[in-house]
Amino acid sequence: MSLMRTIALINQKGGVGKTTTVANLSAALAARGRRVLAIDLDPQSHLTLHLGAEAGTATTGIYHVLTEGTALSAAAMKISETLWVVPSSIDLAGAEIELVSTVGREQLLADRLAAETLPFDYVLIDCPPSLGLLTLNALAAADEVIIPLQPHFLALQGFGKLLETVALVQRRINRKLRVFGVVLCMYESATRLAGEVTDDIEEFLRHGDSSTPWARAKLFETRIRRNVKLAECPSFGKTINAYAPQSNGAVDYEFLADEFLALHGDMTDTEAHAQAVSTARKSSEAAPPSPAASQQQPPATAAKGPAKTPKPSSPAAAANAPAGTTDVKADPQAAGVVAEGKSQV
Ligand SMILES: Nc1ncnc2c1ncn2[C@@H]1O[C@H](COP(=O)(O)OP(=O)(O)OP(=O)(O)O)[C@@H](O)[C@H]1O
Ligand SMILES: [Mg+2]
Repeated sequence: MSLMRTIALINQKGGVGKTTTVANLSAALAARGRRVLAIDLDPQSHLTLHLGAEAGTATTGIYHVLTEGTALSAAAMKISETLWVVPSSIDLAGAEIELVSTVGREQLLADRLAAETLPFDYVLIDCPPSLGLLTLNALAAADEVIIPLQPHFLALQGFGKLLETVALVQRRINRKLRVFGVVLCMYESATRLAGEVTDDIEEFLRHGDSSTPWARAKLFETRIRRNVKLAECPSFGKTINAYAPQSNGAVDYEFLADEFLALHGDMTDTEAHAQAVSTARKSSEAAPPSPAASQQQPPATAAKGPAKTPKPSSPAAAANAPAGTTDVKADPQAAGVVAEGKSQV
């Protein structure tokens, strides 16, 4: 695949699985021979640590890219033959304030990405849990957005605001931006709530009209089940495929990588075959069948492009009315950051 795709994983809610997904999806894609650059745009540096690059040891990182114009290629650290990371550090926490008078401060990452030809197939950006300047930089630089979501009570709270922010960035500074998909993380299929949230998201996405950046967004068929190995592996600086390759967590991220590649039209015949075999094996597994596994359809068939026909409706109405489940006004914190974001765009 020659055309580099840049994908921002965003959600202003904390602890929904953004970093876990960037780390493990990046590793799974890299294991399939795709050249992947993971960018840690969060001052917490969790992605940097998860990928085994020690935060603080790097002399350059995303902070220098944003504040000093350091080239991404100079800041990237090699993790494996096909996986690289641009590390974060605590300095990044001050970047929003340091950059306050910088003209075009929401385009700094986009400018660095455009400044050189990078040898990657995919750039995955891990964002902090806010819709502030750092996330805006990711949105300004990205081709696509993936929204990790934890299907619990109020999971969709703030979802409308999030999409509204994406739409705003798309209108004002990044025409190519679109929402690629929503991925459910820490999924517990036994709960009624998980099913309800799933229905609500599908309903919500169906109501975007063709002018919205989420008109063709897809709810990934792969669900990332709650799995303790996924929570353990960051402290060893390992991704799940290295830490516990037989775990449900590893299996789920393998499926997600396959679905991601199929949706991008980037699957080789060999991969498609291997994927079909593992799906068949999975569905024929003896009892008790994994409820999550049974929901995972072969991406090769599930993924021939978003099939939804968006119903006509106004973007604003859609952004504000996710199936009656979301009251963004009840989330003053999220609303506040969006307001801040708006003034910056
Ligand atoms: N599928 C899962 N099963 C079990 N634990 C998980 C799973 N996914 C993530 N976790 C754990 O849940 C916590 C939050 O996940 P993660 O750090 O990926 O969320 P985040 O959205 O990046 O959080 P933040 O907003 O703080 O950056 C972490 O401790 C992580 O190890
Ligand atoms: Mg995170």
